[in-house]
Amino acid sequence: MSITLSVIKADVGGYIGHSESHPDVLAKARECLAKTKKEGLLVDYHVTKCGDDLQLIMTHQQGEDNEKIHKLAWDTFVDCTQVARSLKLHGVGQDLLSDAFTGTIKGLGPGVAEMEFEERVAETIIIFMADKTSAGAWNMPLYKMFADPFNTIGLVIADNMHTGFSFEVHDVKEGKKITFNAPDEIYDMLVFIGAPSRYMVKAVYHRETKEIAAVSSTQRLSLMAGRYVGKDDPVCIVRSQGQFPAVGEVLEPFTLPLLVEGWMRGSHHGPLMPVAIEDSTPTRFDGPPRAVAVGFQLCDGKLVGPRDMFADKSFDPARHQANEIADFMRRHGPFEPHRLPLEEMEYTTMPQVMKKLEGRFTSL
Ligand code: F6R
Ligand code: MG
Ligand code: MG
Repeated sequence: MSITLSVIKADVGGYIGHSESHPDVLAKARECLAKTKKEGLLVDYHVTKCGDDLQLIMTHQQGEDNEKIHKLAWDTFVDCTQVARSLKLHGVGQDLLSDAFTGTIKGLGPGVAEMEFEERVAETIIIFMADKTSAGAWNMPLYKMFADPFNTIGLVIADNMHTGFSFEVHDVKEGKKITFNAPDEIYDMLVFIGAPSRYMVKAVYHRETKEIAAVSSTQRLSLMAGRYVGKDDPVCIVRSQGQFPAVGEVLEPFTLPLLVEGWMRGSHHGPLMPVAIEDSTPTRFDGPPRAVAVGFQLCDGKLVGPRDMFADKSFDPARHQANEIADFMRRHGPFEPHRLPLEEMEYTTMPQVMKKLEGRFTSL
């Protein structure tokens, strides 16, 4: 059975500030998707949140980039924005950059990750969602899952994974893409994906079967809008077990609270802390950035689950370490590398300050 899994997300208003999603907004989204499921367009859905981001997880048989599905997501975000407006939440409609839907939700602000596949006998899916960070945050975890034998022992000892995976990498500044084969080309690939603000892993494929293994959202809101509009807060879908990494191999990269861009005013480096859904409440200096993971088994497109994967106690040390790193980074205040390089900051006063001081700069 061919199934499409679409994860479409947007920040339509935060509560309190940018730290959480209001229950009424989530309830409205559930109401919209329940109606569509009844009408038959959706096979199933799950509405959840990561911090201030509203997450629509949907299964259907319309394929990727489908206008009806994208319009459903857009209309749902618009309805939820009304709820946010009625409560005077913060940043109402923040990620909706367009006044109207124009055939696809891509380029309009919300983040999108979609994959179509033949459902396996047992189809294990993990969906990652992050808040207060940008799309390149998945580069290192995806590399570890699908190319690093120190993370994924299956690459070494499982027959059905031993030929490796290929990575589709996007240059979001130039609007170009390239595919690298792992393990043969990992040194070339790392030149690019080690610079995650520009080069992002969009998708991963099983090299032998060509099956889709993972897909991420690579939208960069600031590039779309040409100005600060909030961090991208990306999502990522990963298929697991069998010819793909096991659940434990998929989650293992997050035992390292890797440094990502985002946090306060989208202008800082900070540790990505893996947390349970209910703990995706970035509060300390609007952070530190959070990642959540929900797991499902698909059953003829029905979402059996979710299981809140980072709720597990074995991620306690990573959380502890993330908080220690957060303290350490915070002590740098407005200095790099805590503060992002000038060209990467989402907020800046540089043009005005520079203009004001123009006449005071003299040659050395
Ligand atoms: C970062 C983020 C927050 C806001 C900050 C200021 O992605 O969402 O750190 O940038 O709270 O928000 P505004 O400008 O909306 O008052
Ligand atoms: Mg927000
Ligand atoms: Mg957010």
